[in-house]
Amino acid sequence: MNGEEPNKFHLNQFSRTLISWHKNNGRHNLPWQKEISPYKVWISEVMLQQTQVKTVLPYFKKFVEKYPNIKALSNAKLDDILILWTGLGYYRRAENLYKTSQILKEKYRYKFPELYEDIISLPGIGRSTAGAILSLAYNKKYPILDGNVKRVIKRYFAIRSSKEDEKNLWYISESLLPNKNNNIYTQSIMDLGSLVCLKNSPTCYACPIKKNCMSNKLNLTNVIPAKNIKVNKKKTLKLYLIIIQNFKNKKLVLMKKNNNNGIWANLWNLPSFEKKTEYKKFIKNNNLDSNIKKYDNIKHNLTHLSLDIDILKIELCKIRDFDNYSWKNIYDNIGLSKPVVMIINKLKKEIDK
Ligand code: ADE
Repeated sequence: MNGEEPNKFHLNQFSRTLISWHKNNGRHNLPWQKEISPYKVWISEVMLQQTQVKTVLPYFKKFVEKYPNIKALSNAKLDDILILWTGLGYYRRAENLYKTSQILKEKYRYKFPELYEDIISLPGIGRSTAGAILSLAYNKKYPILDGNVKRVIKRYFAIRSSKEDEKNLWYISESLLPNKNNNIYTQSIMDLGSLVCLKNSPTCYACPIKKNCMSNKLNLTNVIPAKNIKVNKKKTLKLYLIIIQNFKNKKLVLMKKNNNNGIWANLWNLPSFEKKTEYKKFIKNNNLDSNIKKYDNIKHNLTHLSLDIDILKIELCKIRDFDNYSWKNIYDNIGLSKPVVMIINKLKKEIDK
């Protein structure tokens, strides 16, 4: 027996065990697993980037109802895609889906490509998402390395975390791939990560590979993977104004569409200011000093920022226009950021009272 064989056997054992575990313990009824297509796998994998399955479910359903295939999506307007994305976060993903749909229309005649090089060059698709599409949709032998898979690998081989590990982890993920059933294997390792090999308090008693898991053997599951050092997010103050008026039995609120840059690119926003002096100036210049009410502030976390949003509500009695702003019915379907959705929902509740 040469030195490689036991190792190879061991690696095959890993995927074989997970594949058979998946049969009774993995997820089989996710909406993108029904009548599977590269289109549905692509949309779901993009939605699942940095987002949990339970959050994605309603968004995915609405999305494929409205855009059931590449052709339908490629005929959509970015604004309409953003409406469906409202509240899901990481809005750049929606813009990248839109851009990709245009490429699929022009370069691939509405057919999702099958080659790694073609898929990885599409906007918003990195190595792990490309690997997930290739394995889940086409049953091809490509690795993935999302957060769940990283955790499983690190625990199984007792790798203490560090950023430089990335290349090594990709290498391991690739070595673990089976020669067949890559689609089931990929789903099984993701499911193991999100159902058993949990970040906190993993349920090792239910794990099919615990026998050979180094962290389990060495009692290291609490320390591997090492906890990320908490980066202190930059605290940022924002000030929003809700300027509202009644018009023909409609509640209209003053809004402006963000430009194509920044976290909430192309979404609609309330008049928003960074400094108190700015909003005070806006209030003064537009004679809005009367009838101002303070709303509860909202705290909202983004990847690198911790936002504290102060909110003032101003009811106008007379109709008037504001340069660079539009009046929007609060029941209009438009693309909004999560904090603005929260504010609009609160306004709706007050009206329904
Ligand atoms: N996370 C990323 N892709 C996933 C999938 N296909 N199923 C469950 N969780 C996932």
